[in-house]
Amino acid sequence: MITRHTTTLLIICCLVISDAAIIKRRSKFDFPTNLIGLNDTAEEWLNPYVMTYDLADFGKDLFDGMAPRHIVDALVNATTSDDPMTNQYTEPSGTPRLREAIAKVFSPLIGQELKGEDNVLITVGATEALRIAIFSHTVPGDEWIVIEPTYIKYIPDIKMAWGVPRLSPLKLVTTHGTISGDDWVIDKEQLESLFNKKTKGIMLNNPLNPLGKVYKLEELEFIAHLAKKYDTIVISDEAHEWMTFKPHIRMASLPGMFERTITIGSASKSFSVSGFRVGWAYGHPNILNHLKVAHLPNVACSPSHSQYAIAYAFEEESRNSSFFATHAQTVKQERDMMVKMLTEAGIIPVVPDGGFCMIGNWSPLRQKLRGINTAMDFIIWMIKNIGVLGWPLEMFYGDEHKYMARDYIRFCFHKNISTLEKGARNFKKFADLL
Ligand SMILES: Cc1ncc(COP(=O)(O)O)c(C=O)c1O
Repeated sequence: MITRHTTTLLIICCLVISDAAIIKRRSKFDFPTNLIGLNDTAEEWLNPYVMTYDLADFGKDLFDGMAPRHIVDALVNATTSDDPMTNQYTEPSGTPRLREAIAKVFSPLIGQELKGEDNVLITVGATEALRIAIFSHTVPGDEWIVIEPTYIKYIPDIKMAWGVPRLSPLKLVTTHGTISGDDWVIDKEQLESLFNKKTKGIMLNNPLNPLGKVYKLEELEFIAHLAKKYDTIVISDEAHEWMTFKPHIRMASLPGMFERTITIGSASKSFSVSGFRVGWAYGHPNILNHLKVAHLPNVACSPSHSQYAIAYAFEEESRNSSFFATHAQTVKQERDMMVKMLTEAGIIPVVPDGGFCMIGNWSPLRQKLRGINTAMDFIIWMIKNIGVLGWPLEMFYGDEHKYMARDYIRFCFHKNISTLEKGARNFKKFADLL
């Protein structure tokens, strides 16, 4: 006989079961575990402020001025060309013309006879090259060593491939005088301690975004030594390679490293055309072929018109080497402007030797700003009171080391002159307010 008590129990059971079913069903719509946390970025947090305030925006790593005229003209020519194929897919690995142009420029720089067909792959930005370099070499549980601070996409890419990032923070070895990227050094012992039989490779970013560190030969030799000793790959992201203010040494040029290095470059950074979406990877066919396999189902090809325009840009560079040298000079002047702005505001700049981003230590201002404790507090205060945007350096660290970055903000300084002048005016407000 069914009592009132049993009926109540039955109802409760049904509710619990149906709740459980809902929870189970909803869980299919949740992020897979390897994606959890990847959308929780400072960029997302800062977006509403960026939309609301009129800022000198030194946050995002893009140039907000006009792209080089000769490259834009080449793009227009490709778009309006009589050749119908300029409006269609290119070969998956990129147009032979662009691959050859890249092979020609980089061969002497790394001391190899690169062939467009065998050694070069054109991708949708360096972003895609990084993604497929990691994806095409990772099985779940493979470990990748990441030097911190790190370009923001490495850790998400490794996690999305079900790999495991192992983190090695650079050590700051000087705290007085002018501080540069050279003062942030590899912790050799800690770095080597991360290598083991699961290590698939190491991510190198040279010049290093966000810091602007340009690695010295001795540091590259140490990384190369570890890669050989533990038989690993090196993914060498050299997206900022043409904006260097001291000699830039390519990892693939070191003895025995071409065979184990995938070098990645970017038209976004090389020619300030981040909307073109052209990047490349070059290396030995044994490793480059993995990337080719992942690239085709990923994106089919990089935008056709952009490839024609970038081929022209590289060919021009081979003919008269004018753009990269002048460009690096311009970026260096912009760097000097940013160093001055930060110094006058009381933020200690870490002077970069390459790239177009720098970090500044804002901790001397902390005691003057009541209630401002974290870098994010400081950034929001700057947005509201000074009209300047930078990003917290902690974005460039994995969770376990974010605390190391709390005193630093990253500023990207390759900007239109009007943005730099606005920044100079706004940074001066520090003097009035503090
Ligand atoms: C170090 C580094 N690598 C890769 C990229 C991605 O570049 P792309 O626009 O070619 O995808 C960037 C862009 O900011 C970068 O700074």
